[in-house]
Amino acid sequence: MNASFDAYRESYEDEVARSIAFSGLSHDFFLAAKADFLAGLFARHFGERAPDLLDVGCGVGRLHPLLQPLVSRLVGTDVSAQSLARARQDNPFAEYREGDGGALPAEDASVDVALATCVVHHVPPACWPSFVADMRRVVRPGGLVVLIEHNPLNPGTRLAVARCPFDHDAVLLGARRARALLAQAGCTAVESAHILLAPTAAPWARGLERRLAQLPLGAQYVAWGRA
Ligand SMILES: C[S@@+](CC[C@H](N)C(=O)[O-])C[C@H]1O[C@@H](n2cnc3c(N)ncnc32)[C@H](O)[C@@H]1O
Repeated sequence: MNASFDAYRESYEDEVARSIAFSGLSHDFFLAAKADFLAGLFARHFGERAPDLLDVGCGVGRLHPLLQPLVSRLVGTDVSAQSLARARQDNPFAEYREGDGGALPAEDASVDVALATCVVHHVPPACWPSFVADMRRVVRPGGLVVLIEHNPLNPGTRLAVARCPFDHDAVLLGARRARALLAQAGCTAVESAHILLAPTAAPWARGLERRLAQLPLGAQYVAWGRA
């Protein structure tokens, strides 16, 4: 297991903040945009039923306070024991298990959603297919496998990645590649949408993002498929 994120247990937010400072936007802004998108996706897919969710490579669990209202149960997993210790301390409502994304500490077909946010680009490319296939393994038929990743075609994203010390190993993948990995893992109804196009969460900006979501413009994208 690669536990290199152990070193960022206390400084994770500071490093992210430094790498995106040029944008004038806070890390919370980026987290809220992801949670907003997931809220819409879950509502469309599961209706009023709150899904249970496994967050693969959850790190220090910064997204978890925003996921809590969307899910019935939240389990986070990561190779970094120190990140999980911090996540446990900050998010007593969630459960955390140490584990590797290619061999998840979860039974087959045991959750409604497997999510990996900004994780695949830290996984060696040769392992991407098995990483996504294992996410699909743990999702019940009809559930969702969801990847959120940096858009390599966005210059601001490229700059943030270049400035981030824990992204030195990052191999970015575009939405097309992410969709192919989901399809290869056996997911159906595979889709993707770019997010984080405008530097504001105003309703007009979210509407614009939705209309332009198929163009590779936003800073990140969400790719998902049905298990
Ligand atoms: C950039 S952080 C993202 C953390 C969190 N998902 C977020 O969006 O804030 C990447 C995380 O992926 C974890 N990670 C990398 N490779 C992994 C693997 N093979 N299995 C599980 N976690 C992994 C790292 O330890 C780190 O915590």
